[in-house]
Amino acid sequence: MVENTAISRNTYDQVMLPIYAPANCIPVRGKGSRVWDQRGKEYIDFAGGIAVLALGHCHPALVEVLKQQGEKLWHVSNIFTNEPTLTLAQKLIDATFAQRVFFANSGAEANEAAFKLARRYAITHHHPHKTKILAFHHAFHGRTFFTVSVGGQPQYAEGFGPKPADIVHVPFNDLDAVRAAIDDDTCAVVLEPIQGEGGVTPATVAFLHGVRELCNQHQALLVLDEVQSGMGRTGKLYAYQHYGVQPDILTTAKALGGGFPISAMLTTDSIAMAMETGAHGTTYGGNPLACAIGCAALDIINTPEVLEGVEKRHDMILHALEKMNQKYGIFCEFRGKGLLIGAELKVEYHGKVREILQQVVDQGLMLLSAGDSILRFTPSLIIPEDEIAEGMARLDRAISRWLNK
Ligand SMILES: Cc1ncc(COP(=O)(O)O)c(C=O)c1O
Repeated sequence: MVENTAISRNTYDQVMLPIYAPANCIPVRGKGSRVWDQRGKEYIDFAGGIAVLALGHCHPALVEVLKQQGEKLWHVSNIFTNEPTLTLAQKLIDATFAQRVFFANSGAEANEAAFKLARRYAITHHHPHKTKILAFHHAFHGRTFFTVSVGGQPQYAEGFGPKPADIVHVPFNDLDAVRAAIDDDTCAVVLEPIQGEGGVTPATVAFLHGVRELCNQHQALLVLDEVQSGMGRTGKLYAYQHYGVQPDILTTAKALGGGFPISAMLTTDSIAMAMETGAHGTTYGGNPLACAIGCAALDIINTPEVLEGVEKRHDMILHALEKMNQKYGIFCEFRGKGLLIGAELKVEYHGKVREILQQVVDQGLMLLSAGDSILRFTPSLIIPEDEIAEGMARLDRAISRWLNK
């Protein structure tokens, strides 16, 4: 295959807004859980495009739907509806608590819609001052100004002028803090069942049940951001299904399109009715191409074969990490659920995750961080077992080199 050699990593520094610091290689091809860069170097992919590629790269069934729908109808706007949108909405409803669906294109947009809906519902059903949103330190909900302000990482929200108001942050998994902060002016409590970017921290069962109870007491909506934890990542379609707690609104994105941009906000009939024609919208949301691919991804992910395989792969990664830690002793804790796994470095190595990730890429592995002290694993849900073993061997070599440099 002839690659475009005029394009190099240096081109990035010349033409792109300098908001990312991408690795030095440029991936050009992927298949399953393997990726090749411009120079033909091969990588095992434990990052999955940040928890997006639940079925790996270029899954044949998704490619087939992409081709078929691509020859048929890509986009009509919401001036018309379309068959794939309605089919995917029905599938999501059948598989969850939801009765109504709104489609958008990214996690942030789904959350933006969720927060607007929560406020609109409280204002129209209760009183005009019921606008407080309760959220959590270290949470991540996206980068639009509303979502980044609800997120609990102030460094991302500062420096852009006045922020959306009436958002209060409390420590995650601290029910007393929620109890102290929630009141009858609270319209919603927003949380990730497993904080992803913020450090791979699962909500405890008692915490999520307690928050649900407090929401009921104060007529606040429970909004679960399952952009990262959803679509099979934890071994159930959505992480809330492990807890026995139902949200009022749930957002989903990333793996919903298996790599094609699409997101959704799910809610109930009565909450949805707070919105009327024209109250919210998006040009691309619910386009037939994205929704057709979403249907195929959901049909494959929401099966016992795929969901049951998640736990087995989790155990393989954990086992390898524990063995590695007996050798190197650099980790203090392994956290997460299913194939959303965090390995926290011991205090003496805090802040060193980028150095490790540099060695990791050199060894032919794609891996993520969460903050500056946690390695994060979000591979394909169907990554073959021998590729897990090979990827862990590459991680072992990377850590050994990093320690001995
Ligand atoms: C929990 C969570 N919510 C929202 C987002 C934002 O999604 P997007 O980048 O698609 O806007 C992310 C992205 O990492 C996320 O992990």
